[in-house]
Amino acid sequence: MKIARTIAEMKEIRRQLPEPVGFVPTMGYLHEGHLSLVRQARTECKSVIASIFVNPTQFGPNEDFASYPRNTERDLALLEKESTDAVFMPQPEEMYPPSASSWIDVEGITDQLEGASRPGHFRGVTTVVAKLFNITEPTRAYFGQKDAQQALVIQKMVSDLNMNLEVIVAHTVREPDGLAMSSRNVYLSPEERQSALVLWKSLNLAQKLWSDGESDAGRIRQQMISLIESEPSAQIDYVSIADTGTLEELEQIDNSSLVSMAVRIGKTRLIDNIILGGQT
Ligand code: PAJ
Repeated sequence: MKIARTIAEMKEIRRQLPEPVGFVPTMGYLHEGHLSLVRQARTECKSVIASIFVNPTQFGPNEDFASYPRNTERDLALLEKESTDAVFMPQPEEMYPPSASSWIDVEGITDQLEGASRPGHFRGVTTVVAKLFNITEPTRAYFGQKDAQQALVIQKMVSDLNMNLEVIVAHTVREPDGLAMSSRNVYLSPEERQSALVLWKSLNLAQKLWSDGESDAGRIRQQMISLIESEPSAQIDYVSIADTGTLEELEQIDNSSLVSMAVRIGKTRLIDNIILGGQT
């Protein structure tokens, strides 16, 4: 497994990789969710590149950039085990030199949900992902449904800007009890880890209500909110039932609605989602 710490090194390694090339961008502190993307890339592509870069521009001033968990040695061992061909681990100074003044902004679908709660977040995501695409020139790039809006925004960027790659979105990997895997789960105390299950419980509730014939989004949302509020350490940021394409809030549920939420458990902000009638 080759490790590139500069953009020039990554480009040089990329030139020698057999096509098609799969790319899995991450911020590290890898778990089974990340590794499932690597494995899918491994089965579908001749070569696999992963990146580890805690991207400063997608964190707000009061967010957890400084404390975001990092363990490069462990990450590299895990990637090696999955037969990753190359890992790109750039420095922030090289990715964002003081002279840089270009940004990528996907308008519209970044206004809601995570975009509304985290102003500037998606501008940071799209800019770094576009840079990573330009540096690694993947045939296919792999993203998780766990970050549903992010996957949608990246797909829109690739389509709008005619980027020459395919975006693949893979299902959410969960702990045995249903909690979606996340690097941020490490922040949870044992009690909070139990409370965090309320996200998955409320998604199951939505699924059940809808399967039982309820199609009024407002009523489902309200029941989800009541369930989450019954958990003392949970504080709702948003609970949404939205159109999977436009992310506009729905009054009536159809077959492909994105049910998503952001909930603070103590100080830890967690997100999760399902698509009613589709992939979870
Ligand atoms: P990060 O949170 O490290 O996630 C990297 C990729 O793993 C994303 O595509 C994310 O959706 C996926 N992922 C995370 N948890 C998952 C789970 N439980 N199941 C399946 N996939 C999961 O997302 C980012 O980093 C950054 O925003 C990035 C795209 C790297 C840009 O900086």
